[in-house]
Amino acid sequence: MKSATAPLAALTAKQIGGIKAAVFVLALVPLAKLVYLVFMGALVEPLQYITRNTGDWTLYFLCITLAITPLRRLAKWNWLLKLRRMLGLYAFFYGLLHFTTFLWFDHFFDVAEMLKDVAKRPFILVGFIAFVLLIPLAVTSTNAMVKRLGGKNWLWLHRLVYVIAPLGVLHYWWMKSAKHDLAQPMLFAGIVGVLLLLRVWWARQKAQKLP
Ligand code: HEM
Repeated sequence: MKSATAPLAALTAKQIGGIKAAVFVLALVPLAKLVYLVFMGALVEPLQYITRNTGDWTLYFLCITLAITPLRRLAKWNWLLKLRRMLGLYAFFYGLLHFTTFLWFDHFFDVAEMLKDVAKRPFILVGFIAFVLLIPLAVTSTNAMVKRLGGKNWLWLHRLVYVIAPLGVLHYWWMKSAKHDLAQPMLFAGIVGVLLLLRVWWARQKAQKLP
């Protein structure tokens, strides 16, 4: 009997190419919307809005990237793997915009000012660590780098995302805890927690099956 997921499990290379192109364009919509709102002068506090919006999208893309493997395993849609690199790079891209906003538009590259801000709002340091850890993943995302590092080393390096996503949530949680508004950070902690626990569970199952 054919499973309900069969049609989506067996996509052609052309269909997968189409999905990839659609995801590529869709992932740029938040940026396009941001640019539009800025140029229309529609934002009351543009700097705050841009920082928060790009921070949100960094976290969303981290969660979406982490969701690929569980979705692929549960739905048996192996083609989802073909989207993972692009989605991870979008997490880095929005993280870079988020960081650049802080560095450039918030502090105009004034290091002393930035350090003062970090001392006042230490949650920024957690975000900074998460972003720095994202850099080697972005740099080694090409096929040439996979070859150069070797599959196993590459895989180990890319497991850094299991640290980056919780750091992103901690950064968000810490920021919101000062405002006693933890509903959203709790939601993301739950999402990241489930996505990571599923991996632990599968790894334990695999270990048990080994002779
Ligand atoms: C993986 C890296 C990062 C993630 C996932 C992330 C995510 C977020 C999120 C979700 C928010 C809250 C947005 C909201 O309130 O809706 C935020 C706020 C903020 N982030 Fe990040 N962030 C990251 C890296 C950084 C870095 C590198 C910096 C600067 C060095 C930074 C500085 C800030 C600041 C200053 C705010 C608060 C903005 C405000 O008070 O209006 N973040 N970030």
